[in-house]
Amino acid sequence: MTNSQPWGGRFREGLAEVAFRFSASLDVDGRLFHEDIAGSIAHAQMLADCGIISAEDGAAITQGLIALRADIEAGRVEFPADAEDIHMAVEKLLIERIGPAGGRLHTARSRNDQVALDIRLYLRRRADEIVESIRQLQRALLRQAELHAETVMPGYTHLQRAQPVLLGHHLLAYLQMLERDRTRLLDCQRRADASPLGAAALAGTSFPIDRHAVAANLGFAGIVENSMDAVSARDHVMEFVAACSIGMCNLSRLAEEVILWATTEFRFIEIGDAFSTGSSIMPQKKNPDMAELVRGKTGQAYGALISLLTTMKGLPLSYNRDMQEDKRPMFQAADTWDDSLTIMAGMLDNSTFNASVMQAAAAGGFSTATEIADYLVRCGTPFRDAHGVAGAIVGYCVQRGLTLAELDLPTLQTFSPAFASDIFDYLDPNLAVQQRRSAGGASPQEVARQVAWWKGELGSQ
Ligand code: ARG
Repeated sequence: MTNSQPWGGRFREGLAEVAFRFSASLDVDGRLFHEDIAGSIAHAQMLADCGIISAEDGAAITQGLIALRADIEAGRVEFPADAEDIHMAVEKLLIERIGPAGGRLHTARSRNDQVALDIRLYLRRRADEIVESIRQLQRALLRQAELHAETVMPGYTHLQRAQPVLLGHHLLAYLQMLERDRTRLLDCQRRADASPLGAAALAGTSFPIDRHAVAANLGFAGIVENSMDAVSARDHVMEFVAACSIGMCNLSRLAEEVILWATTEFRFIEIGDAFSTGSSIMPQKKNPDMAELVRGKTGQAYGALISLLTTMKGLPLSYNRDMQEDKRPMFQAADTWDDSLTIMAGMLDNSTFNASVMQAAAAGGFSTATEIADYLVRCGTPFRDAHGVAGAIVGYCVQRGLTLAELDLPTLQTFSPAFASDIFDYLDPNLAVQQRRSAGGASPQEVARQVAWWKGELGSQ
């Protein structure tokens, strides 16, 4: 039994050991000590400024918390084993250090608004960090895109060779996806940018506090207007974890392409040794484990999202202890995404694309068949008829083991008299890709334009 809890006043018996262990969250929320202390310093300063505690107590609390933070950061502090969560641990350590003044810190505050504040501060910091990791991966993609702005490869639909594109173009598609991931995260960050502190347990407080001063001190855009909403809302956490999940989904698609391209069958990419692993039994193996782990860890983010949504579903206002279970999925999703972004950037920087293999793949597989149809359309043939002619030509080549570029003009003219010698500008994938000059298309000009835009956006590399 333990009866040393700060809320133990109305209890005659202590909490059962097993119940304490079941309800304690310090092993998870201990990570929030930075946010918790920052919030407490701002709260104490406001209490002193408003005359709710004395200036001396305010100063003693602030100094004590600053010293405690330094000691925790330096690894000199062990959290008390009987503290239920990070809020209790910090308060207990503070009182140990500065005496009764520390006991005044919790005036006009509850752990309900305190934890809500810590979460918002954490999301703000973590969003900034993840945005930076997204930028790193975008830069790594841009470096490869620029290097391969003219490398021809097959573009795929249904994982069948469809039309030739440039590798730079393919990689720039991921830059765009990552840009949406980045701005999605910034949108969540903006919505979470309000201070819940001062809501106290749920109904506000009778002390003459200044919520706006605390919010400004902590750099928030404003306060959460309704005290019950302030302690009950977790949709900003859901949004954040959803953003992490979507980001992981996008990364797992890139990871899958890297895995596929690294196979002996494709050989489009060689992953550097620093980001590959071997097999303990098959000496010839070089495995794309980092990409596989990114693909696999996507499940962690999705799991976190489902866990959080399920925890919150059906909870009446305002605070319920269920909500303590919000932090593990929040940390899990953030860590998974941030680490995966970092790994993918490192892996791309350590990889070499095999331009000649890609080029050869683009030459096979009839990826310029659409060009034949388009050519005939420009000669006045209706598209449906042109499609039929191009299909017949592909069938002819398949039977004889030829590529389209190997056909001669008399043979082509047996399929349509409209063909002239300029058809050969379209049959070679290197030339065909030049024709894709529509905005955002796969032509070298459009890829160069995108690369230049991204270089301006991402700054010096
Ligand atoms: N550890 C709790 C949490 O993370 C803090 C709030 C506890 N409030 C309460 N009334 N039990 O949600």
